[in-house]
Amino acid sequence: MQIKNEEANDAERITLIQFAAFDGHPIHAGAEATEHLIVERLRAEGALSLSLIAEENGEAVGHIAMSSATVGKHTTGWFLLGPVGVIPSRQRNGIGSALIREALQCMKENGAEGIVLVGDPDYYHRFGFKSFPDLSYAGVPNQYVLGLSFTECTPEGEIVAHDAFRNPTKKVEAHPDKNEPSRRVHHYLSINNGK
Ligand SMILES: CC(C)(COP(=O)(O)OP(=O)(O)OC[C@H]1O[C@@H](n2cnc3c(N)ncnc32)[C@H](O)[C@@H]1OP(=O)(O)O)[C@@H](O)C(=O)NCCC(=O)NCCS
Repeated sequence: MQIKNEEANDAERITLIQFAAFDGHPIHAGAEATEHLIVERLRAEGALSLSLIAEENGEAVGHIAMSSATVGKHTTGWFLLGPVGVIPSRQRNGIGSALIREALQCMKENGAEGIVLVGDPDYYHRFGFKSFPDLSYAGVPNQYVLGLSFTECTPEGEIVAHDAFRNPTKKVEAHPDKNEPSRRVHHYLSINNGK
């Protein structure tokens, strides 16, 4: 398995991965999945801080995104992890974990203060995420709001993610110049775990 940065012609493959991963997911309670639309809107607005693809023999099997988020009084330095998705036929083979570890390392190396997310604590604890008493996300129970600080700074206050997470279907005018992969956090490592 190889992990690489999203490249110019990867957008459609990423949409397919994220749709496949979240289609029919219990969090949607029967409604259409929107995670692929979130990624498309983040990309169109130049707001994808990191976009990594996992490939096996050239086939795209997983994807993770990071985007800037406000955390309490911090308007820079903090990033929201997600969505992260692996195609159903390849889930539970370590791909999601490898993507998350690689994305965290990359953000840390690039000077991020820390990462926040909304997700299942049973899964994210293994990467060092935990809940904090004063860390919140509108409408989400506290135990699912998780943070990981790379510094001494404790994440506290309300997380405000990019509007794509609230309005994934909103049509926005694409900014081809903003959409340049070269504007993203750069990720020079490529891992190969033999799978
Ligand atoms: C969640 C997801 C990204 C994990 O990737 P993956 O490649 O399947 O997971 P890994 O093989 O790296 O890790 C497997 C481990 O995670 C656990 N796990 C997977 N999904 C989990 C979940 N939602 N909650 C708790 N544990 C979970 C498995 O039980 C397994 O644990 P073990 O190692 O103790 O046996 C992937 O399953 C996926 O795309 N799911 C659908 C979309 C989704 O839920 N995304 C995350 C939303 S927060």
